[in-house]
Amino acid sequence: MSDGFARGRRLRSTPALRRLTAQTRLSPADFVLPVFVKQGIDEPVAISSMPGVVQHTLDSLRKAAHEAAEAGIGGLMLFGIPGDKDAVGSQADAADGIVNVALQQLKADLGDELVLMADLCLCEYTDHGHCGVVTPAGVVDNDPTLDRYAAVAIAQAQAGAHVIAPSGMMDGQVAAIRTALDGAAYTETPILAYAAKYASGFYAPFREAAEGAPQFGDRSTYQMDPPNADEALREVAQDLAEGADAVMVKPALPYLDIITRVADAVQVPVSAYQVSGEYAMVEAAAAHGWVDRERAILETLTAIRRAGAGTVLTYWAVEAARLLR
Ligand code: PBG
Repeated sequence: MSDGFARGRRLRSTPALRRLTAQTRLSPADFVLPVFVKQGIDEPVAISSMPGVVQHTLDSLRKAAHEAAEAGIGGLMLFGIPGDKDAVGSQADAADGIVNVALQQLKADLGDELVLMADLCLCEYTDHGHCGVVTPAGVVDNDPTLDRYAAVAIAQAQAGAHVIAPSGMMDGQVAAIRTALDGAAYTETPILAYAAKYASGFYAPFREAAEGAPQFGDRSTYQMDPPNADEALREVAQDLAEGADAVMVKPALPYLDIITRVADAVQVPVSAYQVSGEYAMVEAAAAHGWVDRERAILETLTAIRRAGAGTVLTYWAVEAARLLR
């Protein structure tokens, strides 16, 4: 300090010094790739609002899973798009439902090489597109939905899911799922709770990918309201009290403050979901030449890890893993 001011530039002067002093590091094992598998298609279907992301066939999913394992990422989060939808989302827990068949195949192919996570929700499976069953008045009915989630959790565990990840934001969902799993002798199957999941405009491209847009109303009576922060801590505490093994914040980039507060508050692994709209935003800007795509990808992932997330669910998982090699 002989100059009377700190020379912060000293430690920034070479790439090697910057690498040595980097406080946050990314590694492929931090990433989970969300994947979509659709019943009744012969070829993968491109998702226009998510360039580079597809709805998989069972076969193309198996190939993608091998590539993901090869790239060294941590796991997959599976979403299924059934051929038939009904009011209660029957295909979510049918043994021959698309996501359960996919889980069986991936488990047979890969064993324990990748963590296979099953997103547990009904919105892809219901004809009305809500995350639970609805009353005749069109209200998403919390407690009857819990019975459906319990059945889906057992079906997914039976199919080979390593982790059950409830994303429907029903009250009591973690307790209902824990009880169901324990009762079916899946006491060792962990629950990753989408604990602080906001009613976000950034899910729009996902609704094209998963074909689960609500046919009436929106999700703001069950997902969290964006202005709220303390409530996220309450949701997280509640899910942990109900038996969650790990928690998630979603979306990621617009909610870095929430990630930090949650990470500071808990002693369990914290994930963050970099959602479809976050992906689309960077891809769209990059397509115009307005941002450097790879740089933006790694910067957003670094920011999410720096905020306190240990694991990042990202559609760039495999690509980012390769960029880090
Ligand atoms: C379903 C679900 C959604 C996402 C993950 N699980 C959509 C929603 O809640 O409307 C969004 C993921 C993304 O946008 O990438 N409950």
